[in-house]
Amino acid sequence: MTEHGSNQRSIDYGERGQVHIVADAEALAVAAADQLEAVVGHAVSDGRAASVALSGGSTPKRMGQLLAASPYAERIEWAWLNVFWGDERWVPIGNPESNAGEAKRGFLDRIPLPKDQIHTFETRHGTPELAAEQYEQTILEVVPSGDGIPQFDLIFLGMGDDGHTASLFPGTSAVHEQTRLVVANPVSKLNTIRLTFTSPLINAASLVVFLIGGAGKAEMLHKVLDGPVDVDLTPSQIVRPVRGSLVWIVDEAAAARLEQEPRRG
Ligand code: 6PG
Repeated sequence: MTEHGSNQRSIDYGERGQVHIVADAEALAVAAADQLEAVVGHAVSDGRAASVALSGGSTPKRMGQLLAASPYAERIEWAWLNVFWGDERWVPIGNPESNAGEAKRGFLDRIPLPKDQIHTFETRHGTPELAAEQYEQTILEVVPSGDGIPQFDLIFLGMGDDGHTASLFPGTSAVHEQTRLVVANPVSKLNTIRLTFTSPLINAASLVVFLIGGAGKAEMLHKVLDGPVDVDLTPSQIVRPVRGSLVWIVDEAAAARLEQEPRRG
C-alpha cells in the first residue's frame, strides 16, 4: 500500500463487507490500482492469468490513468490479465457512452495488454440479447469455473446514487436473474437496454471491490450499508460473494453518513 494507505481507516460491516475509507478521489484511485496489481501478482505466482471485470462510469477513470503510467505500467505483468466489463451500454465502442471504449481510449490502448485479452461486448451488430449470450459464452470459455460458475479474481463495481450497481437498476428484471450470468436488461427510466453481469456471476467472484467517491453518494452508501436489505430498491445490496470477499473502497466524502465508528488501521 502506498503512502495514501496510512490515511486509510476501516469499518468491518461483517457480511456486508469491509469498508476502507481513504482521504479523497486520488487516494481511491491509488487504492484501486494497488488492488488490481495485487490480484494480477497473485495469479502470476499461481502460474495463471487473472480475470478482472472493470466497471463503467466516472469513478474508475483516474485508476486507469494511474495504471497506464509509471510505476504501475512497468510493474504489472499485463500478459497475465484478461479484462472484461461488468456491464455495458448498447452503443458502438466508438461512442463516448461505451464503457469499453472509454477504458480503451483512457488507458488500455496505452498499456502492453494483448488485444485478444481485452474482451468487449459485441455492440456493432446483432441484438442486446445475442450480445449477452455471446459474452456469457466467452466468460465460460476464458474464466476458470469454481462450482460450475466462472470465478473472476476481481470484479470492480460502482454504485449509482439510485443504488444501482453494474447495470442492475432498481425495479428491473435482471436484479432477480438467478440462472443466466449475463443478460440484456431493459431500463425504462433510462429508456434503454443495458448489458450486465447478474448476481450469480458477481457473487461467484473471489473478490468484489466497490469504488465509491464523492458527497453525492453518501446518502445511498449509508442506506446500502446501514439500512434494511431491499435489493429491488437498492440493488447494490444483492452483492454478497458466496466464497469470496467484499470490499468497499470509499472516500471520506462518500463515507460521511456511515454509522459505525471506524476502526483505525
Ligand atoms: C455504468 C456503470 C455503473 C456505474 C455507476 C457509478 O455503466 O454506468 O457500470 O454501474 O458504476 O453508475 O458511476 P460513477 O462512477 O460515474 O458514479
